[in-house]
Amino acid sequence: MIDFRSDTVTKPTKEMRLAMANAIVGDDVYEDDPTIKELESLAAKMTGKEAGLFVTSGTMGNQLSIYTHTSRGDEIIVGSKSHIKNYEVGASAVISGVSYHLVDEVEGMMPLKSIKYGIREQDVHYPDSSLICLENAHGSGKVLPIDYMKSVYDIAKENNLKIHLDGARLFNAATFLKVDASVICQYVDSVTFCLSKGLASPVGSVLCGSKQFIQKARRGRKMLGGGMRQVGILGAAGIISLKEMTKRLEEDHQNATYLAGKLDKIKEIDVDFSSLDINMVFIKSTLDFMKLADFLFEKGIVFAGNRGKRTRIAVHNDISRENIDQLIELINEFISI
Ligand SMILES: Cc1ncc(COP(=O)(O)O)c(C=O)c1O
Repeated sequence: MIDFRSDTVTKPTKEMRLAMANAIVGDDVYEDDPTIKELESLAAKMTGKEAGLFVTSGTMGNQLSIYTHTSRGDEIIVGSKSHIKNYEVGASAVISGVSYHLVDEVEGMMPLKSIKYGIREQDVHYPDSSLICLENAHGSGKVLPIDYMKSVYDIAKENNLKIHLDGARLFNAATFLKVDASVICQYVDSVTFCLSKGLASPVGSVLCGSKQFIQKARRGRKMLGGGMRQVGILGAAGIISLKEMTKRLEEDHQNATYLAGKLDKIKEIDVDFSSLDINMVFIKSTLDFMKLADFLFEKGIVFAGNRGKRTRIAVHNDISRENIDQLIELINEFISI
């Protein structure tokens, strides 16, 4: 099957499988796993932070960060369309006992004025504001510019707030901006990025921040049941993700642009070119996406068949230009029936 639903579907490469089979491992709860240590220090170096912590998923990285930065009863400033708010099972309320001040994003960015407005003054009635969460690249497909990140950082520091970055696709953002990931991360206190999306590892994310922050997060991870033992098996794939797969993301971005160009020629489909920063193409159509998805599935293609009029097509390491041409041909066939 050729799977266009998401970059989370990427399979580990042959090189990863070999490295996993040969990984030197130890008990990581005792901090004895050399491969995980190597992954965590590489992640810290690439994000410009003091330390890293391997976690099971992007969700765990984000929620562990919120748990580590905040106290129960705090209010955190979060984008209304963010992954943290919408797709993490309401975990911030359950795990950290915090509430959200939601800000509507414009092109992935919470307006600076609205962020400032969301910061609480000291008052007996108010919760404490303690954290701002950003998402870069944003789930809308937009990449947040560096000067925007700096402006949010300045606001946070003026008000003694921390910033966490959901960088599930941090390296896609860095590729788009043509900077090292550390340039983006200099304006946040902590960052989570995923190894298991466009970087093709089978499992895992890394949370990075100061040594003190990571020390505290390590205890939180244990509490959540995320202390893993011979996890260097996964770390070995993660190292290849960071050393090798980050370098090929540009190819996915170019393939997304190629796909968008082809889709744009189909009159029933509107491509949202304004959100074409990374490896995702957003389309609107009068076509019935559910029926299209069923049709494509029969022909060996998995497609996100939303019920609405808008859907997302993702390209990644397991999608070639030929696969894109195949998809276009089949969409045209579906329209002609
Ligand atoms: C922007 C963003 N943040 C966080 C996550 C969570 O990652 P995971 O599925 O590994 O929990 C995702 C997953 O798709 C995501 O797109």
